[in-house]
Amino acid sequence: MLGRVPPVTKYPMVDLQSEVSELWSELSPAVERVLRSGQFIGGTEVEAFEREVAGFLGARHVLGLNSGTDALLLGLEALGVGPGDEVVTSPFSFFATSEAILRLGAKPVFVDVDEETLNLSPALLEEALTERTRVVLPVHIFGLPADMGAIMRVVERHQLPVLEDCAQAFGARVGGRSVGSIGVLGAFSLYPTKNLGAYGDGGLVTTESDELAARLRSLRNHGSTPQEKYLHEGLGYNSRLDALQAGILRVKLRRLEAWQARRLERVAAYRAALADLPGGDDGLMLPPDRPEHRYHQFTLRLPPERRVRFEDGLRGRGVAFTRFYPIPLTRQPMGANFGAAPVAEKACERVVSVPIHPWLPDEAIAAVAEAARAAFD
Ligand SMILES: Cc1ncc(COP(=O)(O)O)c(C=O)c1O
Repeated sequence: MLGRVPPVTKYPMVDLQSEVSELWSELSPAVERVLRSGQFIGGTEVEAFEREVAGFLGARHVLGLNSGTDALLLGLEALGVGPGDEVVTSPFSFFATSEAILRLGAKPVFVDVDEETLNLSPALLEEALTERTRVVLPVHIFGLPADMGAIMRVVERHQLPVLEDCAQAFGARVGGRSVGSIGVLGAFSLYPTKNLGAYGDGGLVTTESDELAARLRSLRNHGSTPQEKYLHEGLGYNSRLDALQAGILRVKLRRLEAWQARRLERVAAYRAALADLPGGDDGLMLPPDRPEHRYHQFTLRLPPERRVRFEDGLRGRGVAFTRFYPIPLTRQPMGANFGAAPVAEKACERVVSVPIHPWLPDEAIAAVAEAARAAFD
């Protein structure tokens, strides 16, 4: 195996080089198998991966796609979203969530988030629904499932479909069910930094519906029909998962739960190291401590001026950090006014995510705790 390229920071957000080293003996035969098969788009490797994910998640249909963004876009399109429709969603997410809605000519309607979980607040959902609402699109932010029980109670009264943005929450379960299979569709990202990440772009859509699965199969392949090659019933996309990624992902899927256990152990170490810091609105807020949390991110919140001091301390100690997200989707300069979301806006002024991954050393956690203590001196 070739040598490692030194990381830009001492403690990066994720450590894909350690991951590759740990997996090398399984990755190299998997990659070789795909290369020797000569089958690079679709085929048996992709089908095997889709089957294995279906088994893992307990989903009826799993379709590999180009990206999580496409999973949202094709999912919304399969549900019939188009110009003039409204899609109710969370303002605290990556831009792709609202981009998919806007791409289809529809309007995002933002429901502010719950202060603790940063997920769409079910208490505010009903008043956002109108006769133009076509879909409700909650996001399981940072790997913590949204309150799907409460959300489903509201949407069932209005007979609306739910598309879950599971980009950050692969493997999260609520009441024995995987996210993505509670609503009618689940959209997953396989971007390299995700908990189940490819070594390139990738995404998945899951559904229990045979009809939606058929529509999505056609959409991902230029609107083609399964019955006859080169017959196209409508417009579609070129959005397919490639076989090399599928081969790599099959190896990683087998490790996912063992890596999740290590992630949780690192989370426990963070909690112990940060336990003596002041809490509350003037202090340091830790991520919600819930067993269903997959901790795609470990996101802290602290008052804005303390956040700047904390970030300086992290920088000085070689610890990477990111503000997920600095701007709520309600404030993105997209030329339209999508209303206010005060809780999401307050969160954006306070959030800072620090490294979390199965290879995170104790020294990185100690450095984060030192930087936090210095910010509250
Ligand atoms: C919440 C959320 N939705 C959608 C996406 C889009 O996924 P992708 O980058 O695979 O297109 C992401 C990925 O960053 C995400 O975090």
